[in-house]
Amino acid sequence: MTPPHANQHDAAAPGWRDKPLADFVTALVAREDPVLRAIRLETPRRGLPAISLGPDEGRILHLLAASCGARKAVEVGTLAGYSACWLARALPADGVLHTVEADPRHAAVARENLARAGLSGKVFVHEGPAAEVLPRLSEKGPFDLVFIDADKGGYPVYARFAADHLRSGGLVVCDNAYLFGKLHRDDLDPSDEDAPKVPAMRRCLALLTDESLFSSCAMIPTGEGMAVAVRR
Ligand SMILES: C[S@@+](CC[C@H](N)C(=O)[O-])C[C@H]1O[C@@H](n2cnc3c(N)ncnc32)[C@H](O)[C@@H]1O
Repeated sequence: MTPPHANQHDAAAPGWRDKPLADFVTALVAREDPVLRAIRLETPRRGLPAISLGPDEGRILHLLAASCGARKAVEVGTLAGYSACWLARALPADGVLHTVEADPRHAAVARENLARAGLSGKVFVHEGPAAEVLPRLSEKGPFDLVFIDADKGGYPVYARFAADHLRSGGLVVCDNAYLFGKLHRDDLDPSDEDAPKVPAMRRCLALLTDESLFSSCAMIPTGEGMAVAVRR
């Protein structure tokens, strides 16, 4: 039975998912342990922006890493280490996550949080702008998964890095792919700070949907849009 007025094939149609249902499902499949919960809740209290993934998105990342048998992964945009924690937990004991963070204060908090999570031996926080750090990580590839969650203008460069350094069957995952609801807008005022990010995100998605590079690409319709593609 479909909800009233809903076409089950129409992504924009209203569905069953209201807040009580969403909360129930989060508690069921994306329950945070005390460490993850503390990292997420303490992030704004420590003066960092509250822009980490939510638990459901963390679980999706964990599932994607587990489903491709990831051992070696890269993350662009660490913040306080919340998504790094989800991702690293999906890797085997000898797995490695290289996570890149431009802001030294964020990197310091992330190192602390990852130590608290017992993940210091598995997650390496590389400090600096991703465009400078990623080339230095090339030699550590090929990678099984690249997760992109940093400055949106840089996404095409980071997606290119993923295309060049993923093994066949590896995954690239891009958060905020709806670009705050503006991805489809051609009428943004040039003074809108997101206006220059629209062509950047579209170039990133053009790469992910290039079938000579990626065999399959889908948009997971989280609130922010999470684009995923499988390297050919
Ligand atoms: C949305 S937050 C990352 C959230 C994190 N992935 C999580 O869910 O816990 C984006 C982070 O990217 C960092 N960042 C922004 N531009 C960057 C760049 N050019 N290179 C590396 N990191 C960058 C920001 O400082 C910020 O900490």
